[in-house]
Amino acid sequence: MLYGGITNRRVTVRDLARAKQHGERWAMLTAYDALTAGVFDEAGIPVLLVGDSAGNCHLGYENTVPVTMDQMVMLSAAVVRGTKRALVVGDMPFGSYQESPAQAMHNAARLMKEAGVGAVKLEGGERSARSIELLVEAGIPVMAHIGLTPQSVHAFGGYPVQGRGDEAAHQLLRDAKAVQQAGAFSVVLEAVPAELAAQVTEQLAIPTVGIGAGVGTDAQVLVWTDMAGMTAGRVPKFVKQYADLRAVLGDAAREFAAEVTAGTFPAPEHSFS
Ligand code: KIV
Repeated sequence: MLYGGITNRRVTVRDLARAKQHGERWAMLTAYDALTAGVFDEAGIPVLLVGDSAGNCHLGYENTVPVTMDQMVMLSAAVVRGTKRALVVGDMPFGSYQESPAQAMHNAARLMKEAGVGAVKLEGGERSARSIELLVEAGIPVMAHIGLTPQSVHAFGGYPVQGRGDEAAHQLLRDAKAVQQAGAFSVVLEAVPAELAAQVTEQLAIPTVGIGAGVGTDAQVLVWTDMAGMTAGRVPKFVKQYADLRAVLGDAAREFAAEVTAGTFPAPEHSFS
């Protein structure tokens, strides 16, 4: 259904609900610009997340904390423009929704109206339930995000695995049920033990999207720069690298520079007479 079924319109949250009913797994990738998003759209990826991981993966910050609403609107609008079929989910950056449900509403509406996304994502389980409820009542599809929530990097003291131990596992389950109850159409489970993620997935009617959460979730998401081998240095244990784009681009740049310095580029076929 999600793969090969829909060709003439965008994927919707109803398609994702149906996929869960039919046991159809799906893939989500992040995207931060029109060009890359277009490649993923053509590849049939049904959901693209304009993640605030743009902070460290696209904009050169150390983490997601500095990312602003204006930046998310600009990046999300580019991804919407570059795609025809994918459901585009715009991430709500740190400080854009934690103050109050009214603040969440104001900024989610910006992503819908100014960028044209089909859904928004925000971090937090029970603590974000009231905001999710208000957005859903207003007609805004919400993807929740629990477990390791990177906007809390300073509170966590890094990026530790979440949900280990009985109390933490129960809290994760409570968070998952709270966001479902509030009306979220799906929930990201980040960096949680595989067995716990599978349990949560079984107990929820909405699709779970795992990242570092094992194979038992309904969908999987990876940050595109990690999965395509663009990220410099270490990537998290849960990342599988499907290409080595950093090496390919670096080689292309070095070859171009070598030909320029040798005077072999441009050749006659690249020149006008
Ligand atoms: O910002 C992001 O890219 C995310 C995904 C890792 C789920 O939140």
